Amino acid sequence: MKKEQVVNCQFSVWYPIFKKFTIKSSILPLPQNVIDYLLDDGTLVVPEGSSSLQQTHNNTSDSEADDDVQWSDDESTETVKAPEFPDFNAKVLEAINALGGRVFPKLNWSAPRDANWIALNSSLECQSLSDIFLLFKSSDFVTHDLTQPFIHCSDDDSPDPVISYELVLRKWSELIPGGEFRCFVKEHKLIAISQRDYTQYYHHISKQEHSISHSIQGFFRDHIQYKFLDDDYVFDVYRDSCGRVWLIDINPFGPVTDSLLFTWEELTSASRLTASQAQDDMPQEEGPAFRYTTSEVTVQPSPCLSYRMPRDFVDLSTGEDAYKLIDFLKLTETETTLDVKEKVV
Ligand SMILES: Nc1ncnc2c1ncn2[C@@H]1O[C@H](COP(=O)(O)OP(=O)(O)OP(=O)(O)O)[C@@H](O)[C@H]1O
Ligand SMILES: [Mg+2]
Repeated sequence: MKKEQVVNCQFSVWYPIFKKFTIKSSILPLPQNVIDYLLDDGTLVVPEGSSSLQQTHNNTSDSEADDDVQWSDDESTETVKAPEFPDFNAKVLEAINALGGRVFPKLNWSAPRDANWIALNSSLECQSLSDIFLLFKSSDFVTHDLTQPFIHCSDDDSPDPVISYELVLRKWSELIPGGEFRCFVKEHKLIAISQRDYTQYYHHISKQEHSISHSIQGFFRDHIQYKFLDDDYVFDVYRDSCGRVWLIDINPFGPVTDSLLFTWEELTSASRLTASQAQDDMPQEEGPAFRYTTSEVTVQPSPCLSYRMPRDFVDLSTGEDAYKLIDFLKLTETETTLDVKEKVV
């Protein structure tokens, strides 16, 4: 994977080419002060005008304390002021309204998929800039875009291309995970298709394997092949309930992109890929190898679970599980350590 391939997979590069076949979106340049705010580790203070919590580092006077959460009694430290981005905020709100009031946010390449648990609705659906900031500031995937977009590139001795950072707002769409597929293209040829949400078994996929594969191949041939700037890339699609295929995203052909039910070793080797249902005594069909989860037995935990908070932490902090709290207090009384279970919310 070369740096140029990563550059070509930026949303603002592919969106104008494939606008007709994807979800309606807006692209806003990200001002430098917003980038600095997103990269600043110390503040989780959402901008003025939002109703969400603000973080202060001192005891504020009663008159201004109502909306503020006080994290410390230390009077010597100064108040962290909520940053203000009035012009940018106005542009974002205008774009959100033009997209129907609910959007899915991402940066040049990544969405904050690892942070949805922190949002009040446990979703990436946003209606304001503060919703977006809360997700972005909690996401390692967003930080990856901002700090190391060219990691894993083979031409790492060449200078990094200059990136203009952008906020991408996509019209919110209720996508059913069983309709999402990731497609791998090598030398302009569609070589592999994987179920995107491979952690679940979807009965309809095994039942409609051939029609799903054919509709994706047709979509690729008619609308994608030879139109993208590279020979090798990975595109994500959504097949809706009418069987119509939509483009969701384009990703670099390399280890920064999750290879799902394939491995990068298989995808980059010259040998022929096998499909989920391939049998040794049956000749394999021409066309891409199609893999999907074939039974409930192979169901796995969601890959983003490891980004969440352990369930015990949440239960203790909210006091939701009284017995756990009592156990915890007993343990701290006897100065033993709490054995936090690896359960996650
Ligand atoms: N407009 C939208 N409305 C609602 N959900 C969406 C929308 N666009 C994408 N999604 C959901 O979010 C998921 C991630 O979207 P997307 O592929 O754009 O993010 P990404 O960061 O590029 O992911 P990856 O790292 O896997 O490439 C999709 O699989 C889909 O389920
Ligand atoms: Mg992507």
